[in-house]
Amino acid sequence: MATDTTHPSIITLINSDHGKFKSLWQEYKGPNMNGEMKQKLSWTLIREIAMHSSAEEEVMYPEVRKRLGDEAADTLVGPTGHQQLKDLLMEVNHMTIEKNGETAFDAKMQEAMDVLYHHIDDEEKTFWPKFEALPGVDADLLSSLGRKFEGAKAHAVTRPHPWAPNKPPLNVVANMMTAPLDGLADMWRFAGNPPRV
Ligand SMILES: [Fe+2]
Repeated sequence: MATDTTHPSIITLINSDHGKFKSLWQEYKGPNMNGEMKQKLSWTLIREIAMHSSAEEEVMYPEVRKRLGDEAADTLVGPTGHQQLKDLLMEVNHMTIEKNGETAFDAKMQEAMDVLYHHIDDEEKTFWPKFEALPGVDADLLSSLGRKFEGAKAHAVTRPHPWAPNKPPLNVVANMMTAPLDGLADMWRFAGNPPRV
């Protein structure tokens, strides 16, 4: 079989997204931020995390389910993982600094980011090392999953949808219907100010 190691491993791609989220969050908490800058940064974070999570659910978690089992996949996608994160980001998405005040907005963002950081630790410290150590998981597989992960991000939703299905095949169908609507909503949100990541 042809090798597919020309593409970065899915683990490398996922972890580099994590690094991006962390640096955006550090920037949010930085000393020179005003309300408007925080608002825009929160929209960028919501968008990036939505696309990343959707691609994980389409490409990585089915592999985790197949190779590490239901318990592992359910931990990542369930009420202490993506589900909780989506619920909180949905709340953030419905708030604005102007309407709710900076203190309340900061507190909700902090809550969401605490869950995100915990989830990132679960993936990077527990599940990825286990996954990479499995027989049958080699550079070829990780590389071809990396290619699929990037493809999935390109057609992913850009807003949190906590009630949408999170497992194949229904998540893929829901994405196909929802992503264009998210795209339209984002055109207004980012009008004149395209997301910079
Ligand atoms: Fe994740």
